[in-house]
Amino acid sequence: MQRIGVLTSGGDSPGMNAAIRAVVRKAIYHGMEVIGIKRGFNGFIEGDMEPMHLGSVADIVHRGGTILHTARSEAFKTPEGRARAWENVDRFGLQGLVVIGGDGSFQGAGLFHREYGLPVVGIPGTIDNDIAGTDFSIGFDTAVNTAVDAINRIRDTATSHERTFIVEVMGRDTGFIAIASGLAGGAESILIPEQPFSLDDICDKLCRGYRRGKLHSIIVVAEGAASGLEIGKQIKERTGFDTKVTILGHLQRGGTPTAFDRILASRLGARAVELLMAGRTSKVVGLVAGEVVESDLHRVIGEKKKVDLNLYRLASILAI
Ligand code: F6P
Repeated sequence: MQRIGVLTSGGDSPGMNAAIRAVVRKAIYHGMEVIGIKRGFNGFIEGDMEPMHLGSVADIVHRGGTILHTARSEAFKTPEGRARAWENVDRFGLQGLVVIGGDGSFQGAGLFHREYGLPVVGIPGTIDNDIAGTDFSIGFDTAVNTAVDAINRIRDTATSHERTFIVEVMGRDTGFIAIASGLAGGAESILIPEQPFSLDDICDKLCRGYRRGKLHSIIVVAEGAASGLEIGKQIKERTGFDTKVTILGHLQRGGTPTAFDRILASRLGARAVELLMAGRTSKVVGLVAGEVVESDLHRVIGEKKKVDLNLYRLASILAI
């Protein structure tokens, strides 16, 4: 394999740059050429692509976002869009493609592989951590640390004012970020889409804590479980406690990646190139029990990754 393309797609995540760097440098190390595709599959369709060199990825390992930019491409969902992308595969002489992104990006990559046979390897990059075939996706660790940092700060002011705070975190329709940040941040309750919850129970717990002399509380709400604003309103109405709501939103998507995410991205980026070189394509690389592994792309697309309910229960026990 002489020339490969690389793109980032879907929501950005901290560590995507470290993954691009690993793909570019590993490929060049083995004598290959790399074409950077801008703005995800949109750039693929429009031919917004250019050769990358060692210097193209200098000074980015520590930077959040993605130097290739990203998009959620509607056009790539159409046969016409993918046909135009295929013309660019031909025009730029691509023999393989690395897609760094989440579930939607892998679906696009899988479809393209099925239709046109271009060898593809996926690297999980999303703060949501909702990709099967890996314990961690690139950006999750950073997002969790960002959320925990926010919870620490909120705890300071919650204590001073003796308030109840609702902190809404991202995660789409999963509770990975909520469980990890809630446990690490010492939240009283964690609301996730995977588990039913009762506002009565949550309010009872708050009141029990209040009677024990606990004057502030933090409740972490996954965006897929409920609206933080609505939960805040309900709790205020039911308990009468001074209740505030903070929605962390896109703060969780930015910032310098943690060392964990940089190392993960470097390992997965390098392995993706190795797989393309070995002709082991239509794969997703991941980290399972500390080891870099490969999974079938179509299996990963079809599988729903489950949150660790033991971790969820532990958080609940420790917040008794
Ligand atoms: O998939 C990453 C993510 O940040 C989700 O947690 C969130 O639901 C979604 O993207 C937000 O998407 P957008 O940036 O397009 O509003």
